[in-house]
Amino acid sequence: MTMLDIIEKKKRGLPLSDSEIEFAVGGYTDGVIPDYQMSAFLMAVYFNGMDDRELFSFTRCMINSGDVLNLSDISGVKADKHSTGGVGDKTTLIVVPMVASCGLKVAKMSGRGLGNTGGTVDKLESVRGFNTQPSGAEFTEQLKRVGAVLSGQTGKLAPADKKIYALRDATNTVDSIPLIASSVMSKKIASGADVIVLDVKVGRGTFMRSANDAELLADTMISIGESYGKKVSVVMSDMNEPLGFAIGNSLEVSEAVSALSGDAPDDLKELCNVLAAQMLSLGGFGTVSECERLAEDSISSGRALEKFKEIISAQGGDVDYMLNMPKAEFQYELKSVSDGYVGGIFADLCGAAAMKLGAGRVRKEDKIDPLAGVRLSKKRGDRVNAGDTLATLYTSERERLNEAAELMEKAFVIDGAPPKKRNLIIKIK
Ligand code: URA
Repeated sequence: MTMLDIIEKKKRGLPLSDSEIEFAVGGYTDGVIPDYQMSAFLMAVYFNGMDDRELFSFTRCMINSGDVLNLSDISGVKADKHSTGGVGDKTTLIVVPMVASCGLKVAKMSGRGLGNTGGTVDKLESVRGFNTQPSGAEFTEQLKRVGAVLSGQTGKLAPADKKIYALRDATNTVDSIPLIASSVMSKKIASGADVIVLDVKVGRGTFMRSANDAELLADTMISIGESYGKKVSVVMSDMNEPLGFAIGNSLEVSEAVSALSGDAPDDLKELCNVLAAQMLSLGGFGTVSECERLAEDSISSGRALEKFKEIISAQGGDVDYMLNMPKAEFQYELKSVSDGYVGGIFADLCGAAAMKLGAGRVRKEDKIDPLAGVRLSKKRGDRVNAGDTLATLYTSERERLNEAAELMEKAFVIDGAPPKKRNLIIKIK
């Protein structure tokens, strides 16, 4: 068997056997198969897809490429959540302490971001002292004692996915349903949770642009999870506009703290409540509507905020610093040039502007500016007058402001009449 034979078969749309898939994934992970052959293989999968058997086999190889965490010594149901990624998505920082404060254990492993803005790990690293790489023993001890851990992905968990995902990013083969589904689910299954809630984003600010594709991705992930005995629920949510007001690492942490203190923008609040209720309900805390009340109560009682502070401090983070995050040195206020209503705010352009300001990375090795980003002052449907501030741009390098401001000018649509209401939650499966 050679990798060239495997590429040839997939190129012609023929199904691969389990041993061919093991050969490709194992060989690439071990460094025997070079990047250029794996790239050709991924492009062939991109165009010809995989049938269910191939998909399950590919996912299994990625799970078994590294450690599979066994959390069975820890009492209670263990839950995890994952978002397919969007602009201003800080839901993990809010939902994890919400559900943990209700007694659900959350062993959350998150990634760094590439493109748009940072990932959850980058957001957390904007808190001085916060350790995103606890050891295995620290991870388990904190999960037992605090009930939640916010950790980066260890190199030992699904290393095949780590390598393949980086290659997909560099070869434009990310937006393939079988490749995304196997990538996400291999990590979630290897992380050992019993209950998994997935937030599948749809729209301009993410790679699933159509609701049909997003639904197919959702169904594919559910079937992989269920085949491993996991309880899986998917929330499909609109990502045409940024979530909340803040985009960029420290800005998003501050917005998460406000949300946990009961002051959240409507869209962020709605999505966090839905995700938290799904996690709690799958975790056996009651019906979805009972769990919605538990979720709301975790905020109004102050318990979720206290739990967040406890998690931050357990991982070495400076809670006072987090509650009073510094602001970037250079700022620019984008003003409206006309009167009207905000008809829309394009998430992809806001994400690109945040990148220009230094909030994300183009290449893996790029350094993030934790204070960079955009804070919106207006949201869809808001009335504006000429001269009102639409958004404030933040960066630690002045020369980054101009290009970012041009993108943000294009991101705002100002219309003469209010826009139609948008449904943030598209479907729950
Ligand atoms: N997130 C992942 O972990 N993998 C993908 O392929 C896409 C989003």
